[in-house]
Amino acid sequence: MKVVRRYLRQVRDDYDFVVVNGENAAAGRGITRKLFGQLREAGADVVTLGNHSWDQAEALKLVEETPHLIRPLNYPPGTPGLGSGTFSARNGERVTVAQVMGRVLMQPLDDPFRAIDRVLTEQPIGANILVDFHAEATSEKKVMGYHLAGRCSALIGTHTHVQTADQTILSGTGYITDVGMTGPQNSSVGMNFDEVHYRLTSGLPKRFRPSSSPGEIRAVAIVLQEGKTRAIRRIQAGHKNNDIGQEVIEY
Ligand SMILES: [Fe+2]
Repeated sequence: MKVVRRYLRQVRDDYDFVVVNGENAAAGRGITRKLFGQLREAGADVVTLGNHSWDQAEALKLVEETPHLIRPLNYPPGTPGLGSGTFSARNGERVTVAQVMGRVLMQPLDDPFRAIDRVLTEQPIGANILVDFHAEATSEKKVMGYHLAGRCSALIGTHTHVQTADQTILSGTGYITDVGMTGPQNSSVGMNFDEVHYRLTSGLPKRFRPSSSPGEIRAVAIVLQEGKTRAIRRIQAGHKNNDIGQEVIEY
């Protein structure tokens, strides 16, 4: 939260529209009304969720209060909130954002392919459509890329917390298997190594704690024209003590 708020304040005016995956905003476990408000205030037009959508009970109410917080489309019928929405960008264009969740190595859900198809068939030709595919398996994410190539503006993978280097454009659809994590640099998916290491080496339970190491930003910047991606660039920004030569953010 600290690093994303600082970073968005620095760069927000460079972009017409910003989407943040916020399902781990509450120290890894879901999102609260307060944290959602802070992300919106920092410049996020839309916040998406994922397998941690309901970790904080108030999120069930929050998704009913605002269209700017989106949960996966392929939850069972009757789930609170919406899986897609159409919004105004700063340049006046309309942008539709949708989220689907994978089923490989994830909780059982409705078919994400049919769920996203239903949203896409309602969209006019040339519409700006951003799809967040929240999934574990790179194989499933690549197949979604094949499924949606040329049918939406961009398909951005989330959930693994490790940014892949395979950004590309598939028949006008910007694609990356995973956008990566914004959070503590030296961590196991954001969590302190000690407890995760203990669990993996002993087989005994131990509660994970969020790592307090310096934060990093992982994101993609996309240039859209007439609903198609013209350019997609990976963003890696971090603390001034970072050792991989990434862009520096002061915080
Ligand atoms: Fe996730």
